Amino acid sequence: MIALLNIGALLLVVTTCHGQYEQEVDVPNIINSEYGSLWPLPQSVQISSVPFSLSRNSFQIVHSQKSSAGPNCDLLQNAFRRYFEYMFGFTKNQGRYRSGLVSEVSELQVLITSADPECDAYPSVTSDESYELTVDQPTAVLTANKVWGALRGLETFSQLVYEDDYGARSINKTVVKDFPRFAHRGILLDTARHFLPIKVIMANLEAMAMNKYNVFHWHIVDDNSFPYQSPSFPDLSQKGAFHPYTHIYTPSDVKRVIEFARTRGIRVVSEFDTPGHTQAWGKGQMGLLTPCYAGDSPSGTFGPVNPILNTTYEFMSQFFKEVSAVFPDAYVHLGGDEVDFTCWKSNPDIQKFMDAQGFGTDYSKLESYYIQKILDIVASTSKGYMVWQEVFDNKVKLKPDTVVEVWMGNNVEEELQKVTAAGYTTILSAPWYLDYISYGQDWQKYYKVEPLHFNGTVEQKKKVVGGEACLWGEFVDATNLTPRLWPRASAVAERLWSDQSVTNIDDAYSRLIQHRCRMVQRGLPAEPLYVGYCDHEYKGL
Ligand SMILES: *[C@@H]1O[C@H](CO)[C@@H](O)[C@H](O)[C@H]1NC(C)=O
Repeated sequence: MIALLNIGALLLVVTTCHGQYEQEVDVPNIINSEYGSLWPLPQSVQISSVPFSLSRNSFQIVHSQKSSAGPNCDLLQNAFRRYFEYMFGFTKNQGRYRSGLVSEVSELQVLITSADPECDAYPSVTSDESYELTVDQPTAVLTANKVWGALRGLETFSQLVYEDDYGARSINKTVVKDFPRFAHRGILLDTARHFLPIKVIMANLEAMAMNKYNVFHWHIVDDNSFPYQSPSFPDLSQKGAFHPYTHIYTPSDVKRVIEFARTRGIRVVSEFDTPGHTQAWGKGQMGLLTPCYAGDSPSGTFGPVNPILNTTYEFMSQFFKEVSAVFPDAYVHLGGDEVDFTCWKSNPDIQKFMDAQGFGTDYSKLESYYIQKILDIVASTSKGYMVWQEVFDNKVKLKPDTVVEVWMGNNVEEELQKVTAAGYTTILSAPWYLDYISYGQDWQKYYKVEPLHFNGTVEQKKKVVGGEACLWGEFVDATNLTPRLWPRASAVAERLWSDQSVTNIDDAYSRLIQHRCRMVQRGLPAEPLYVGYCDHEYKGL
C-alpha cells in the first residue's frame, strides 16, 4: 500500500451568508488498496500483479459442464447477461486490445456443486451465499453450492475488472474465498411517508446486489398512507393511499418487486406495523381504530388499532392470511413500535376492558394483549415474525424463532445483551438510521460500528444474525432517495459482510471511492464521499 497523500483531519473554513464558521472534516489518507476496488471486502482474497486482458468480442460467461445448473436456470442466465453488460457495456473503444504481451481470460465458468442449485427458490436467512473464484487464463472459475453464492461471486468478478491505460478491460490473476459474516443484511425503505415508484425500488434493489445486501425490509404502509392494494380489502388503498390509482402498489407491482429481488438473491420482508402507525388504515376500514374521547364524548379523532373488539381480530386474521400468501418470505415484520397510549386512556370502553382484564392502569399490558393476539394470528399462517424492540421490552410472549429488531439509540449494548440472553434472534439497526444526515463523512461512523460489541456469551453473539440500514421517508422521495442511500449504506454493507477485522479506514476509503464511481458508472446517482472525480461521471437523466 502506497501512501500518496497524508492530509488526515482537515480544517475547513466555510463562508455562508450567515458569516463564517469552522468545521472539522475527517478525511482518510488516500492510499492504493491492495484490494483494488472490491466492496464489500471478501473474507479471503489474493490479487496478484499479473494482468490478463478481457475482450468484449470473445469473453463469455458459461455454465460449467459439471454444474447442476444449466441454461434452464433463468436466474443465472439473466445474471450472466447483467454482469456482462456491467463489465463491457461502457466500453468506449470496443475493438481495442491490450498489447499481445498479456494473456487473455476468455471465459468465466460458473459451477454450481449442490444437486439442487435453487434456481427457482426464494432466498432465506439460511441460504448459502458462499463461493470461490479463481481468475486465471484462459479460464476463470466461479464455484458455489447454490445460485446465491454464484450471484455474489459474479459481482466480485465484475469488481475485479478494471479499465487499463489503453481503455481496454483487464483483470489480475486472483483467488477469492468468500462468505458473509452475517446472514441478514437489510435495507429498510419506507413507501408510506412518500410513495416510491417501483422503478426507484428496483434501481435500489440493483444497488443492493452491488453491495451484497440480501434483505429488502419494505415498510410499506404507515400513518401517512396505505399504498398496498389489498385484494381482500380494496378500500384500504382506495381510501388510505395518497392517490387510489397513481400512488398504490397493485398485486402485480408487488409480484414484480419480489421477483426482481429474488433474481438478485434478495428477500422481501414486508412490514405491516400495528397497533400504532395505523392512521391510514382507519380511512378504509371503519371501526378498526380506537375512537379518542374529549371528556365524555368522542372527539372525532382516532388512536391506535382498537384492541378490545372481536372485529379487529377477524379483520387482522383475514388481512394477514392474504399478506402471508402475497409475500413468499418466511417472515413478516409486525412492527409494534411507538404506541401512544393517550387515546386509549381517554376511551371509557377501553378503561372498562382494562378493569375487567385486571390490567389496572398499565397500558403496556393492553398493548401486549393486542400484540399477543396478532402474533398468534400470524403464527397460524405458518410465518415467522419480526418485531421492533418494544414488543420484547414490554414482555410480550414471543415464539422462540422471533427476530427482534433493536432500533433505539440509547443503551444499544444493554438491549442486545438482554434480547440475546432471553434466547431471541436479533438484528441491529439503531446505529444505521441513514435518514439522519449531517455535514461531513458520516459513512465512517456507520463503518466503525461493531455489532457484536456487547457483553454476552458466544451463544448470545450467535443470536445476532445481522442488521439493517434504515432510510425513513419523511424527507425522502424518488428525487433524493438513491443519492442519500448510496454510498452511505455501502459502509453498513461491508460491516455486515466482511470479516470483523476489516476496520482500516484508509483502505476502506480507497476502495469505497472506486466502488461509488462504479455505482455511478452503472447508472446510479450515488453521492460523492468528498472532493474528487470519477472517470465516468454521472450524466444525469
Ligand atoms: C493488477 O496488476 C497491475 C499490473 O501489474 C498492478 O499495477 C495492480 O496494482 C494490480 N491490481 C491489484 C488490485 O493488485
